[in-house]
Amino acid sequence: MKQRVPGFSRIRTSFLFTAILLSLGLTAGNTFALTNDDCLGCHGDIIDVTIFSATVHGGNGCVSCHREAAAATDEHPLPMPPVNCGTCHQKIAEVHAKSEHGKAIKGGDKQAPRCYDCHSKHEIFRPTDPRSTTYPLNIPGTCGRCHQDGSPMTTSHKLKKKHITDNYTMSVHGKGLYKDGLIVTATCSSCHTNHDVQKASSPNSSVNRNNIIATCTQCHVGIGNQFLKSVHSPLITKTDKKLPVCIDCHSDHTISMVDNKDFRLTIAQQCGNCHGRYSETYLETYHGRASMLKGGEKLAKCSDCHGAHDIMPSTSPESRINKAKIVETCSACHPKANASFTTYLTHATHSKEDKARYPYLFYTFWAMTGLLVGTFAFFGMHTLLWIPRSYMERVKAAKAKREEQD
Ligand code: HEC
Ligand code: HEC
Ligand code: HEC
Ligand code: HEC
Ligand code: HEC
Ligand code: HEC
Ligand code: HEC
Ligand code: HEC
Ligand code: HEC
Ligand code: HEC
Ligand code: HEC
Repeated sequence: MKQRVPGFSRIRTSFLFTAILLSLGLTAGNTFALTNDDCLGCHGDIIDVTIFSATVHGGNGCVSCHREAAAATDEHPLPMPPVNCGTCHQKIAEVHAKSEHGKAIKGGDKQAPRCYDCHSKHEIFRPTDPRSTTYPLNIPGTCGRCHQDGSPMTTSHKLKKKHITDNYTMSVHGKGLYKDGLIVTATCSSCHTNHDVQKASSPNSSVNRNNIIATCTQCHVGIGNQFLKSVHSPLITKTDKKLPVCIDCHSDHTISMVDNKDFRLTIAQQCGNCHGRYSETYLETYHGRASMLKGGEKLAKCSDCHGAHDIMPSTSPESRINKAKIVETCSACHPKANASFTTYLTHATHSKEDKARYPYLFYTFWAMTGLLVGTFAFFGMHTLLWIPRSYMERVKAAKAKREEQD
């Protein structure tokens, strides 16, 4: 996903080329060309020469970027054209130009990031250097300068996605980064790329639905490969229905640990977004109902029985709920489970829709219900008929008693 520098040799060549051009300029009688020291003599207040010398371009002359000052003798033209980093980083400049950011710049958007908005002007270090604005620990801050709530950019642009940096900071990746200093975790640019930042709706975007599995699989290799073999994989199931991708179940900026209570409690809902009936019927069973109570996260969730990334239809021998495996699946929480225990029907309902799937349950339910209703009806009627009779008996008895007393 990351863009590479266009190869050292290429950069060196163009750098060399610039250097040659410069020396040609110098030898062409221009003996008064400005040196770095000259530039700093007037601009030393804004550029810290010690820091600049230590940067990746520290060995370059000021004029390697500010080319228009190259031919100057004691004064340079004003205003100076903007620096074009692309003279040396051509490939990156091309990618950036086609990105959402680059297109916005072309459209005249003053708040869209130029190279120096992310890399700084005179303090450019390698991304592996902790002083760099693109060092993993600093990337969320670099993007966040514009993409965090309340920034001038978010105020003037009504982008759909909100609370991005706050959510990221609280996510498993953000906590890994900030709390543990885990610099191999996902930062903004791991998912959005460095320079090819595109809208999620763009088919080429690294965060488009069609590419998200590959984006997460950069790091979660094992899970990604397992997922591609499951019933939810576009390689396995050819369907017009929407197949789930990583972010449907995990979200994007609010990804949490999967043993987190809140995550466990939303699984049924996540799967239920597509498997509505199964989620409803699950909620009617013991596991589903008790999930609503305190400690409900311990009860079986869809993924405890079906798996999460290796889901297969129950008819497949690889399914965790296939006859061959189901005892093992239930035993994870019910150590005494055996074949008869597993006949407990997880999704069974007595509804008409499920008649074909669970005929036994359907008819038993209606037989039992019939019996119950019948019984109540019979005794209800009996009681009703009995009321006037019992009243008359009482009146009779009272009358007899009174006559006896008189
Ligand atoms: C890696 C490229 C690069 C090098 C090398 C470089 N600059 Fe710059 N400089 C920039 C960029 C980018 C800007 C932002 C404005 C623009 O695009 O022209 C800038 C802006 C400036 C400005 C305008 C004030 C400002 O902060 O915007 C001055 C003055 C300046 N540079 C002087 C120097 C001097 C002096 C040196 C040598 C010590 C130097 N630059 C070396 C890239 C560079
Ligand atoms: C004699 C003093 C002097 C020298 C030497 C000098 N500059 Fe400048 N430079 C200025 C002044 C004055 C400005 C305009 C006000 C400002 O931005 O500070 C300026 C502005 C700039 C700007 C901003 C351009 C703009 O359009 O706003 C850049 C970039 C710059 N200089 C680069 C250089 C570089 C690179 C060198 C060395 C090759 C250099 N300067 C040498 C005086 C000088
Ligand atoms: C005159 C050519 C030239 C210009 C212009 C130039 N660079 Fe570079 N840049 C280089 C060279 C050469 C290297 C590699 C240095 C090395 O590897 O030792 C480099 C390295 C870098 C690196 C670190 C790359 C890495 O893999 O660690 C970054 C980031 C960078 N440049 C950003 C910029 C930005 C941003 C600008 C414009 C503000 C810019 N460069 C302008 C020549 C240039
Ligand atoms: C939106 C922010 C952003 C913008 C704009 C941006 N970069 Fe980068 N750039 C990054 C990040 C983030 C990294 C690298 C992080 C990493 O490798 O972990 C990077 C890496 C680099 C590297 C070194 C490694 C690589 O990926 O090849 C160079 C060179 C570079 N950028 C040059 C440029 C140039 C030139 C421009 C303008 C055409 C530019 N960048 C615009 C964010 C940006
Ligand atoms: C200097 C400000 C600035 C910085 C820094 C910046 N962006 Fe942006 N970003 C923008 C602007 C402005 C837009 C809106 C462009 C448009 O109108 O389409 C944008 C758009 C986007 C979009 C498309 C969103 C949408 O709804 O269209 C993504 C994704 C994005 N940026 C990610 C990043 C990432 C990741 C970083 C850091 C590597 C970053 N940005 C750094 C200003 C910035
Ligand atoms: C783990 C991967 C991941 C990380 C880390 C991440 N994002 Fe995202 N981001 C996504 C995904 C996936 C989407 C698109 C979700 C969708 O389809 O709506 C997205 C959407 C966005 C959007 C809106 C894009 C659009 O077109 O609507 C912006 C802006 C954005 N992210 C910026 C950031 C910034 C800034 C950071 C760092 C603080 C960041 N993201 C970190 C995965 C990530
Ligand atoms: C259909 C929903 C769903 C999809 C799609 C999905 N996951 Fe998961 N994922 C889960 C559930 C549920 C768990 C918790 C599993 C458990 O507790 O055993 C989980 C667990 C994880 C874990 C924690 C480690 C583990 O195996 O327990 C990671 C990392 C992960 N998923 C990444 C991904 C990635 C990357 C993708 C895309 C390739 C993805 N997930 C797709 C539902 C999903
Ligand atoms: C740059 C590598 C990288 C990328 C890209 C990445 N992750 Fe992660 N992810 C990690 C690392 C490392 C961890 C370990 C936890 C941490 O960050 O502290 C993790 C943790 C997780 C967890 C929690 C696992 C647990 O044990 O509970 C989930 C879920 C997860 N990632 C999902 C995703 C999804 C979904 C995507 C794509 C949208 C994604 N990740 C992209 C590196 C990455
Ligand atoms: C974005 C929608 C979506 C989400 C979310 C989703 N699924 Fe699926 N699932 C599908 C599609 C589409 C199929 C392919 C079979 C079909 O056409 O119904 C499928 C197939 C299945 C199958 C095989 C069914 C069969 O009849 O062959 C099982 C079991 C399954 N999913 C369980 C789950 C579980 C458990 C979760 C949550 C962890 C989940 N699904 C989340 C869309 C989804
Ligand atoms: C206690 C274990 C268990 C839990 C929890 C569970 N299921 Fe099932 N599920 C089964 C079993 C066993 C079957 C096959 C027999 C049946 O239909 O009852 C099945 C069947 C299915 C099927 C039909 C496809 C197939 O493979 O036959 C889908 C789809 C499904 N479940 C989705 C879900 C969803 C969505 C959830 C959560 C809302 C969920 N399940 C929770 C055990 C479970
Ligand atoms: C993630 C753990 C987990 C898994 C896996 C699981 N259950 Fe449960 N189940 C529970 C918990 C917790 C309870 C409530 C406490 C109890 O009674 O043991 C429960 C209760 C039950 C009950 C009602 C109470 C009882 O013990 O009679 C039945 C029946 C049941 N489970 C059947 C199953 C079947 C069948 C499977 C496999 C298809 C299964 N469970 C898989 C956690 C799980």
